[in-house]
Amino acid sequence: SQISEAVFVKSSKGTEDCPSDGFPEFALVGRSNVGKSSLLNSLVRRRKLALTSKKPGKTQSINHFLINNSWYLVDLPGYGYATAPQTVRTDWDDFTKDYFLNRKTLVSVFLLIDASIPAKKIDIEYATWLTQQQIPMTLIFTKCDKRKKQKNGGKRAEENVEDFHVMMHEYFQEAPPWIMTSSVTNQGRDEILLHIAQLRNY
Ligand code: GTP
Ligand code: MG
Repeated sequence: SQISEAVFVKSSKGTEDCPSDGFPEFALVGRSNVGKSSLLNSLVRRRKLALTSKKPGKTQSINHFLINNSWYLVDLPGYGYATAPQTVRTDWDDFTKDYFLNRKTLVSVFLLIDASIPAKKIDIEYATWLTQQQIPMTLIFTKCDKRKKQKNGGKRAEENVEDFHVMMHEYFQEAPPWIMTSSVTNQGRDEILLHIAQLRNY
């Protein structure tokens, strides 16, 4: 299930511009700055394949990366970028929701959640929306390396993840599969790749 080749194919501004070769794909989605592009780089073991930034709002379009010449990882712009103007936020919703609803080759969405900060309502809202649309989803908790060092400030990743699950229980009968990750330590990389391999074999 390891990645031997990763190639950036194209940036698309809408679902209709996406590649049409029919390879199955897995999309990374989540709040701005949650670590989508960093996770992609960690998975493919390349530091700068997908562009990352400390400033939220780096990724602005649908980016297809062809893996092992047989499936795609897709890097999407983040939601919930608080300082973006309302019109930009509405555009984001229209264009990514259209992608989720109409992209036929989409196998599963990886919804990234920052485990280094308290659970956010907007993440629950997206998880709920994806579930209502019956779009298969896996929760990927990011930045699990972060709070471990702190003695007093903030909760540990495990506690934030537990809080998130408690919030989710109000909306879901059954929790989706979830994986703890860090793009700094590469925690969770093999687990995600194995998960993708299993989903591709269905
Ligand atoms: P947008 O494209 O703006 O939506 O953001 P993104 O979700 O692609 O985030 P990106 O990968 O650009 O990372 C945002 C910031 O978080 C960068 O400064 C990364 O270095 C940092 N970061 C990402 N993943 C991790 C992680 O696992 N641990 C730590 N400590 N920092 C991380
Ligand atoms: Mg990004």
